[in-house]
Amino acid sequence: MTATLIDGKAFAVRVRAKVADHVTRLREEHGITPGLAVVLVGEDPASQVYVRSKGKQTVEVGMASFEHKLDVDTTEADLLALIAKLNADPEVHGILVQLPLPAHLDSDLVINSIDPAKDVDGFHISNVGLLGTGQKSMVPCTPLGCLMMLRDHHGSLSGMNAVVVGRSNIVGKPMAQLLLGESCTVTIAHSRTKDLAEVCRRADILVAAVGRPKMIPGDWVKPGATVIDVGINRVAGAEGKTRLVGDADFTSCAEVAGAITPVPGGVGPMTIACLLANTVTACCRANGLAEPEGLTA
Ligand code: GUN
Repeated sequence: MTATLIDGKAFAVRVRAKVADHVTRLREEHGITPGLAVVLVGEDPASQVYVRSKGKQTVEVGMASFEHKLDVDTTEADLLALIAKLNADPEVHGILVQLPLPAHLDSDLVINSIDPAKDVDGFHISNVGLLGTGQKSMVPCTPLGCLMMLRDHHGSLSGMNAVVVGRSNIVGKPMAQLLLGESCTVTIAHSRTKDLAEVCRRADILVAAVGRPKMIPGDWVKPGATVIDVGINRVAGAEGKTRLVGDADFTSCAEVAGAITPVPGGVGPMTIACLLANTVTACCRANGLAEPEGLTA
C-alpha cells in the first residue's frame, strides 16, 4: 500500500473532544445544555444500532439525549404531532428522524415538518436551498465529515477536480455543493454515467457514495488522487461471519491513490461526530452565541 491513510476514527475523536469542550463552556458560562432528539419509527435492526450509537455518543459529550421510539405502524399524524412538540421544546436544539421510514410515511413531508433551525441532518428543503446558494445552513453530517477530512489533508481544495459517484440527497448532492463551495470543479457521476471509469480517472478527489461493495477498482483512480469512501456495505466474510467493505476496492485503490479513507474507520465515525457538531452549532445559533470554530462548513 502506498496511499496515506486518512484516519476518520481518530479525527472523530478530535471532533467529539471539541464538541465536548464547547458543551462544557455552554453549560458553565450560559447554563445551557444542548439537546438532541432522535426519532426512530419501527425496528429496522441497522437503524436501531445507529440510534443507540447516536444516543450514547450524545451523552458522552455532555449533551442531553431524547430518544423517541415509535411503533412501526405509527400514523403520519402522530409522527407529525411529535415533531411539532419537539420543534416547540426549548430543551431540544436538534431533531433527527432516522431514515428510512416505513413505506406508509411520506419522508419528504416528515423531514420538511422539522424546524429548519433544528434540522441537524440538513435534509429540510430550506437547508438544501441555503446550502445550494452558498448561505449559512445546517449541513448534512456525512458530507460535512468528508469535507473536514479533505480540508485537513489538503488545506485548500481550490481548483481541484472532484468527482462524486452517487447522487443521493443524503450524500452525493450535498457533497457536490460543498466541494463547489471550496472552488473545486465538480462532476456528479452515477450508475448511468457513460465511461464511468474514465470520469473517475480525472478526479483529484474521488468520493465514492453509491452503496455497491468494492465497485471502484484501483485502475479507476488517478495516481496520487484522494479517495473518500462513503460506502458501508456488509458482505459475507470468513467463517460464516460478515464484514464491512466500502464502495472502493481498498487494496487496489490504496496502491494508486495518494490518500484514502478506510472502511471501517474512515467516513463512518465522522458522521455521528458531525451530528454532535451540528447539534452544538444549532444550539449556539438558537441562543445567539458564537459558533464553535472548525465544526461547520
Ligand atoms: N439513515 C442513514 N443515514 C442517515 C442519516 O444521516 N440521517 C438520518 N436521519 N437517517 C439516516
